[in-house]
Amino acid sequence: MKGSIIIAIDGTSASGKSTNARIVAKELGFLHVDTGAMYRTLAWHCLKTKVNFHNPRSVGAICARWKAALERIDRQVVLVVGGHCPALELRSAAVSAAVSHVSFVPQVRAWMKKTQRECARFGNLVMEGRDIGSNVFPETDFKYYLDANLEERSKRRESDGVKDNLAARDEIDSQRAASPLMLGLGAKYINTSNQTAAQTSKAILDDIRARMAGSPAPQNLMKAKTLRKQLDRFQQKVRDMRGRRVEEEGGGCSYQVLCDSAKQAVR
Ligand code: C5P
Repeated sequence: MKGSIIIAIDGTSASGKSTNARIVAKELGFLHVDTGAMYRTLAWHCLKTKVNFHNPRSVGAICARWKAALERIDRQVVLVVGGHCPALELRSAAVSAAVSHVSFVPQVRAWMKKTQRECARFGNLVMEGRDIGSNVFPETDFKYYLDANLEERSKRRESDGVKDNLAARDEIDSQRAASPLMLGLGAKYINTSNQTAAQTSKAILDDIRARMAGSPAPQNLMKAKTLRKQLDRFQQKVRDMRGRRVEEEGGGCSYQVLCDSAKQAVR
């Protein structure tokens, strides 16, 4: 992770991942990565180049050779294909219908995982998707899984004016062999059916802040480890000296007290 903090927000379609990921990223000053948009970009590219998205071989082959690169645009990290960053096109019914077939292909998942891990070079991230906590960044301490009942999720999509095949996508996403949609180990489950985005994002932010307060930031942890090593070496020297003094003078010294209080200070 190269020292970056990753907040993983996974869950079912229209469970509120994007809205909450954006709010959390803004509040923390982190970058936002929508990995669903990455898969949609490949689905859009297949449709544009007339690749049969039902054929895993063709999809795997195009994924191996497409010219897609990561770019930071404002507060987001996105995929740019041949200099173009598709946005509205990704929300079309055609792309929604194709995307789960594209994301089903193991070569595609391997390419996406590698590329999504590379996003950490841009800084601290809030990354949303289906397998971020379970597969892309399983080592992160910050994992959230959002869900809501199908009726509520369908209502949300309709109110956005988007036609979506939610149930079908969830079915394919959770049944596939390669990194399926599932609750990752250590992920906090949040049912958003009866919650506003303000309530959900507050629950996530409160949890992140409580965890961050409880554990030192990675850079502080490194500093503390280095200090602890220096202190151990120093203490050893003091013990050796004291041993010599005890031998020479037949008495103790106050170095140990000093060391013990210094050790307490870095704990
Ligand atoms: O989040 P969104 O609904 O835009 O995701 C579109 C599709 O991309 C999902 O239905 C799923 O097939 C795929 N996806 C995935 N793994 C992710 C993110 C999205 O398989 N991490």
